[in-house]
Amino acid sequence: MRRKLAAGNWKMNGTAAALDTLDALANTAASAEVLICPPTTLLSRAAERLSTSAIALGGQDCHAAASGAHTGDISAEMLRDAGATAVILGHSERRADHGETDAQVRAKAEAAMAADLTAIICVGETLQQREAGNTLAVVRDQLTGSLPDNSTGATVVVAYEPVWAIGTGKIPTLAQIAEVHSDLRASLSARFGAETAAAIRLLYGGSVKASNAAEIFAVADVDGALVGGASLKAADFAPIIEALDAS
Ligand code: PGA
Repeated sequence: MRRKLAAGNWKMNGTAAALDTLDALANTAASAEVLICPPTTLLSRAAERLSTSAIALGGQDCHAAASGAHTGDISAEMLRDAGATAVILGHSERRADHGETDAQVRAKAEAAMAADLTAIICVGETLQQREAGNTLAVVRDQLTGSLPDNSTGATVVVAYEPVWAIGTGKIPTLAQIAEVHSDLRASLSARFGAETAAAIRLLYGGSVKASNAAEIFAVADVDGALVGGASLKAADFAPIIEALDAS
């Protein structure tokens, strides 16, 4: 069945000193998979620090092309070469800051799969979309547009991150999380079949912290979390990993 996943997204935070967080987490004994996505500049040094740890590393974005004239961009193979085994794609900050479309996210996911990286594909509604009653329609559209046709539980993870919950301290009600996750599972089942849908992990993301982790992880179809702010310090992230293990 689905192995639980606690993924930390450091975003544009951290220089060499931040690697100490990894030392503090390195020996966290977890049955859940633990993944840290640091800034690209720290990836290979993080891989060295974690060489004897079960904690895995991921990137925060990649280009859809394998190589070429794309100044400033990073390919999936480069992330893999630097020590990553996964990459976050289509995060709402990239969709907003860089105008990333579902089609682009899907092309990036295909590139990630070709480089043997797990694609953690993010979907989520804005507050305006939720208030207009469009949450499920928005999230279904993003899911359809962003996931490659050959997605499997081994190659893809879906993260539901309501835009209005990211970095705000606000989270949806547990019933709202349950509604979206169950709808995502149903959409995956309709497209990929029940067996594949049952193998694809669904993460919740947006203001997850030690104090709300246990109740979120108790929601059906929540297989873990994508954690931003609370993944930057071991003292904040470790209890979230523990809550996931206990769920
Ligand atoms: P947050 O970010 O935990 O700081 O809300 C989550 C994310 O953007 O992945």
